[in-house]
Amino acid sequence: MGTAVDANALNADATYRAAVAKEFDQVTPENAMKWSEVEPVQGQFNWGPADELVAFARAHGQKVRGHTLVWHSQLPSWLTEDAFTPAQLRDLLRKHIFTEVGRYKGKIWAWDVANEVFNDDGTMRDTIWLRALGPNYIADAFRWAHQADPNALLFLNDYNAEWLNPKTDAYYNLIKTLRKQGVPVQGMGMQGHLALQYGLPNTVLQNAQRFDSLGIKTAYTEVDIRMQLPVDVYKSAAQSEGFGSLLRACLLVRGCVSYTLWGFTDKYSWVPGFFDGEGSATPMDENFQPKPAYYTMRETFQLAGH
Ligand code: G3I
Repeated sequence: MGTAVDANALNADATYRAAVAKEFDQVTPENAMKWSEVEPVQGQFNWGPADELVAFARAHGQKVRGHTLVWHSQLPSWLTEDAFTPAQLRDLLRKHIFTEVGRYKGKIWAWDVANEVFNDDGTMRDTIWLRALGPNYIADAFRWAHQADPNALLFLNDYNAEWLNPKTDAYYNLIKTLRKQGVPVQGMGMQGHLALQYGLPNTVLQNAQRFDSLGIKTAYTEVDIRMQLPVDVYKSAAQSEGFGSLLRACLLVRGCVSYTLWGFTDKYSWVPGFFDGEGSATPMDENFQPKPAYYTMRETFQLAGH
């Protein structure tokens, strides 16, 4: 059971810090390991917040999920604004992966190597990496990450990846192909950013099962369930059902190794800042009071003997 951790809150808020330590056995840096955060100026590194989280996890016996190595978002501006050649970009990406994975070698349990590489219709997302390097950038990234830390579990990761749809078809086929080629892809991360106004997906278990049938690990990596405010008891109940159904799917497939919340308290959730009028997406309110979703997850774990 994991959570994304806000590096600033971890330092500034003792209640938050105590809850991260008490409720979870795995942590993901919400932003601290992203390229724009670790190398804001080319060649000048800012490892402080990521180092602190890794040390916190170690002190509390928690595993760390590294997030994320190749993404189209939160790239440093020196990288996206300068006109690098494809060869230079390939070299920069390779260096980035070796530097970051190498720094935390042996301390990261699983890496989100490639994040959000497909569009919802199953076509490849148009990114700086696809344009410059072509579709093989994904295989290269996995090979480099594996060379840099052979013991870390290496994941793909995406949203709208929790049910059967063209995007998960694309991931299923990609993983099959990559594994045939001997590329070290070891897991599929399903982020789990759901929104009540779109309904809860009903092929969650089938989707987890088909990834499981490929013999890889699966994980819910960024679960939160937002809603249009204000909250009412019906929305709260539906949210609780959503958190529960993803957790049940995880417990029901052999290779599901973790269930991670994208923040556990509304106090630091990314949702209100990104979606106007939406919020209440996590299992605890701004005052760390548990919602029905919290108890549903706890009961589900208890029923499963955890
Ligand atoms: O660090 C800068 C700070 O220096 C600056 O002063 C401040 C002013 O806006 O911005 C800070 O950066 C913000 C960063 O979060 C850290 O707080 C960015 O503006 C903001 O855009 C960024 O948002 C993050 C978002 O990814 C960016 O795409 C969210 O916190 C984070 O929860 C969210 O997480 C993503 C996952 O990585 C991938 N899956 C989807 C998920 C939700 O979008």
